[in-house]
Amino acid sequence: MRGAHRLSVWCFGGIALFFGTAAPDSGFAQESVAVRAVMVKGGVPGEDPSAAAWNTVPVSEFPLSPQVHWAPRIGEVTAKSVKVRAMHDGQRMAVMLEYADPSEDPDDAAALEFMIGDKKAHFAHGQPMAQVEGGPVNIWYWKNKDAKVLDMNAKGFGTLKAQSQQDVTGKGVYQNGTWKVVFTRSLTTGDVDHDTQFKPGEFINIAFAIWDGKKLESGDLKEKGSQKAVSSWWYFRAEPPPDYSAYLYAALAVGLAAVFQFVIIRKLRKGRST
Ligand code: HEM
Repeated sequence: MRGAHRLSVWCFGGIALFFGTAAPDSGFAQESVAVRAVMVKGGVPGEDPSAAAWNTVPVSEFPLSPQVHWAPRIGEVTAKSVKVRAMHDGQRMAVMLEYADPSEDPDDAAALEFMIGDKKAHFAHGQPMAQVEGGPVNIWYWKNKDAKVLDMNAKGFGTLKAQSQQDVTGKGVYQNGTWKVVFTRSLTTGDVDHDTQFKPGEFINIAFAIWDGKKLESGDLKEKGSQKAVSSWWYFRAEPPPDYSAYLYAALAVGLAAVFQFVIIRKLRKGRST
């Protein structure tokens, strides 16, 4: 009996271990370089950068550097990095940028950039580059004095234009030397050729641009147009709804093993009584 019992316990343990660890893949490797848009209940605080909900979501920080790829270039920029928070409720999403700027100026501006569909594009407006065939990008552009977000597309320099269908809203709040700018949109739209579609669970690319619109003594703006702080491509992921299948597997494993053990013991008992 003892031998058979030990066997059933080993089997029980083996099955439980296998099913217990068969958790769905989370793609952990890219986590640290990604914006995680966590799933929230009860809607996203679209137009409110100071909503308490923003303190409950993880923050990622990305370095920014002066745009030196294309003339007119710039050697030094105000924003050195940008903090990013994001959330979605399965329907709508919101992304908040937070960055330092010593002064609030009418021409202060910030933008998000995404590739569209599975077409690869360079973060410089989808400009065809040696190693990248050029693809369309969707750019969400907020400017302080306009107090709104422009939903734009580009496929190379000189092609940037606002869409006829504006789907993105947003708001910026300046406090204590810091801008907080929120962009919101539905996760998906009807225009898959011009709008990035956000599928929960999928990693896509995101890039940032920030302009310090401070007016210089010359009367010129410190940063404008191509002269801005930019990032390269990073990752963005709208988190999928919680997945309980692993628990289901584990419960299934426990159940199976218990049945297995019961059958074994019964067989053994029968064997002993005959
Ligand atoms: C190396 C990267 C980049 C380069 C070389 C670059 C270059 C330029 C140039 C040449 C312009 C002038 C207009 C035009 O030619 O289309 C411009 C404007 C603009 N760029 Fe970029 N860009 C870069 C990255 C980005 C990124 C990452 C974003 C968004 C996240 C962005 C958003 C914009 C916007 C919204 C404007 C219009 C600004 C205005 O009207 O003042 N750019 N950029």
